[in-house]
Order: sequence, then C-alpha cells, then structure tokens
Amino acid sequence: MKIDHIAIAVNNVDDAAKQYKEAFGIDQVEFETIETEGVRVAILHLGNSRIELMEPTRDDSPIKKFLEKKGQGLHHIALETDNIDGEVTRMKGCGIQFLGNIRPGSSGTKVTFIHPKSLSGVLAELCSHSK
Ligand code: CO
Repeated sequence: MKIDHIAIAVNNVDDAAKQYKEAFGIDQVEFETIETEGVRVAILHLGNSRIELMEPTRDDSPIKKFLEKKGQGLHHIALETDNIDGEVTRMKGCGIQFLGNIRPGSSGTKVTFIHPKSLSGVLAELCSHSK
C-alpha cells in the first residue's frame, strides 16, 4: 500500500490552492467538481501522491458538515492498494471497521472508508485504480 492522496477540508478552494502552491512550490494544479459528493476539489500533484483540497458546493455536502463541526483541516488520508477486496477482507479479520461497502469512486476507481475509531481518530480511504 502507498499513500495516494491526503484530503483537506477548506472554506475556499481557490484561496487554499494558491496558499499550498506557494508554500510547497507546486505548479501542477487541477480543479474538479464532484457533483455526487457536493465538493469542488483542487488536486495538487506532489511526487507520486496528491494533496486534495475540498470545498463544499452544497449545504448537504458531508464536507460542509465537517467544516461546521471541526473547521478547516485534515479530512482523510487515502491509501492505494491493487487488491482492495483482499485488503478489506484482511482488515475486517483484524477487527477494522469500515464506513459502507466498496463502491465506485472517480475515474474508474474503487473506494471504501475506514472508520476513524479504527485508526486513532483519522478517517482513511482505501482506493484501487485497477478494476
Ligand atoms: Co479521497
């Protein structure tokens, strides 16, 4: 497994992208709106992984609720595996708790989320780019 991305909840994705670009000297930034999740995302490429800054686009967005409760900050880390089904089965065997089942993510990926209580308070996404 490797870290695929780190996702951060922000109030304004344009301002945050500018801040992160300057801070880390990143040139490559893409913006994407994910309607199903109610977020606008800035994707900053950093080596083989990414930082994703997420701003809610709707009041019912989970990121909106997160910002109201906790303010800006780390939302989740995402770990990539080429065998998501196998990893989920293995982790469930260790007592790791998941939030929902494996489901389709963006651009052909498969994703699921590990409950923060299984990871010392950090929400983690497990993702697979292969089918
Ligand atoms: Co993610």
